[in-house]
This record gives sequence, C-alpha cells and structure tokens, in this order.
Amino acid sequence: MLNILSNMADVGSHNGEENWFYSDTVQDHFFNPRNLAAEDPTSFDAMGEVGSPACGDKMKVWIKVDSETDTITDFKWRTFGCASAIASTSVASEMIIGKTLEEAQKVTPREIVEALGGLPPRKIHCSVLADQALRAAIKNYQK
Ligand code: FES
Repeated sequence: MLNILSNMADVGSHNGEENWFYSDTVQDHFFNPRNLAAEDPTSFDAMGEVGSPACGDKMKVWIKVDSETDTITDFKWRTFGCASAIASTSVASEMIIGKTLEEAQKVTPREIVEALGGLPPRKIHCSVLADQALRAAIKNYQK
C-alpha cells in the first residue's frame, strides 16, 4: 500500500469527516496541465475515449505513433473530469510520450498516482481514466 499521504498538505473537507490531500505536484499539473488539447486534434493516428463508472466523467486522448519504431511521439487529451483526472492525465502524458506502445501499456495507475505524490483515496479512480483511455487509443491504433 502506498504510504505517500502523510507528508502532504492537509486540506480539510467541508464536513470534517475526511481529510483531502493534494500534493504540490497535483496542484502544478492541475493549474498548468501538460499536453492538453484545446480542441479535438484532427491529425493524430488514433483516439481513445472512456467513461468512469465511479463518477460518470469522461476522458478522450489522442496519440501520434512513429510506425517504424512503434513509439508514441505525441499524446493529447481532453476531459470532463475533476482536478485529479486533469492532474493524472497531465502527468501521464509526460510519462507516455517517447515510450513504445508496449512500454506505454505497462504504465499503471499506481505509477501515475506515485508520480503525482499521491491522491486522496476517493480520487484514485480518477487516475485510471488516463490509463484506460490510452489503452483504448492503442487498441484503436492497432485495428
Ligand atoms: Fe470523476 Fe475524478 S471524480 S474523474
């Protein structure tokens, strides 16, 4: 189990029953999201779209792939998701660009959460959206 919540800023919840923790890295990626698509890209090689059963939010990602090396050369995304989904996908985009399709599929939601310095327990599912949307895009590319 990750033990990464103890050293982060404590943001009290409105009902006082649960503490919410957002690391500096989460805040940085939320306020300055990397590789965000201003609009749906038209020149990418594949697209993946998923919805979260936990909250109903959606994630759409696009990838460009070098067909000779099977390397992801660009990754853009848009979401109707929360701050945790935005931060997770932003940091995931940095982890994924430059990886081969095989390497990219090995990136796990746990690694994404670790790269963010943790997420509040109720927000872990938000990190799965980026992972699942990437897998959908890779599947779409390999069709
Ligand atoms: Fe829906 Fe985070 S609560 S993606």
